[in-house]
Amino acid sequence: MNRSRFIQQAIGLGPIWESREGWFADHPAEISRQALIQAHHDQAIAELHQPASTATATAPAVQPAAPILASEKDKPQPVSPATTVLPAVASPIGQIPSWEQLEQTVANCERCTLCRTRTQTVFGRGNPQARWMLIGEAPGEHEDRQGEPFVGKAGQLLDNMLAAAGLDRDRDVYIANVLKCRPPGNRNPAPEEILACQGYLQQQIQHVRPVLIVALGRFAVQTLLQSEQAIGKLRGQVHQYQGIPLIATYHPAYLLRNLPDKAKAWQDMVLAKQQFSRLTQTA
Ligand code: URA
Repeated sequence: MNRSRFIQQAIGLGPIWESREGWFADHPAEISRQALIQAHHDQAIAELHQPASTATATAPAVQPAAPILASEKDKPQPVSPATTVLPAVASPIGQIPSWEQLEQTVANCERCTLCRTRTQTVFGRGNPQARWMLIGEAPGEHEDRQGEPFVGKAGQLLDNMLAAAGLDRDRDVYIANVLKCRPPGNRNPAPEEILACQGYLQQQIQHVRPVLIVALGRFAVQTLLQSEQAIGKLRGQVHQYQGIPLIATYHPAYLLRNLPDKAKAWQDMVLAKQQFSRLTQTA
C-alpha cells in the first residue's frame, strides 16, 4: 500500500472526515513513519532554535513534492502589497483595547463596504484563553446568519479534524477569520477588505497569545505570513507569526472539494500536535 493510501485509510477518508477515536494516540509512530513527519519535526525544532526573523523563511529539511495544483484556488495568487502590511512587531497588550471593546468595535465596524451587505459581524468563537488559535478566511452564508465562524459544512469538517486531533472546538481552540464580514456571494476577500480588517485579527491574536496558530487556507496563510507562495509550498513546515509558531494548511472548504488533500491536512495536524507537545512540555 502506498503512503498516501495508508494515511487515507488510517484517517477514515470519506465524504467527510471521520475520525477514529483513539487512533491518533495508539499509532503515533506509525503515522509519523509513514508520513515522514519526523523529518519535518527535526526541521521544526531547528527553526524553533533560530531567531524568529530567520526562521520564517527557512526552507524545509525535506522539500515537499511539487504541489499538485488541484484547483485554480490552489495556484499561487498575487497578493497586492495592501494585504501584506501586518505590522512586524506587536504592540504591548496594554496599548490595545480590551477584548470586549474590540468585540464592540468590530460589531460596529464600517471600515469597508462589506458592512453594507452583512447581516452581522463574526468576531470569533471558542476559548479566548485557548493555547491553539485557528484562523480562517471569512464568514460564509451560515456564519453571517448565525454570527459564529465555521458553522456550515466546512465547519463540520473542521470539528471532525479537531476531534481527530483530540481538540475540543469550544474548550481548546479559539477560531477567528481574516475578515469579520461575509463577502457577498462568498467571493474571495478583496485586498482592501483584508487591509481594513487586519488590525482586528492582529489584536485578537495579541489577546489570545496562543502557543500555536493554525492558518486555514490561502488567505489566512498568505496574510499572516506576508507571502505570495501557494499553500502547497508553505504547508509541512513551521513558520512564525510575531514569534508564535504557525502551521499552514488547507482550508476545510477546499478539502471538501479535493478529498485526496485531506491526507496532507492530516499530516499538518500531526505536525501541529507535535509542535504543541514540544512547546508545552515541562522540563
Ligand atoms: N470559511 C471560513 O474561512 N470561515 C468561516 O467562518 C466559515 C467558512
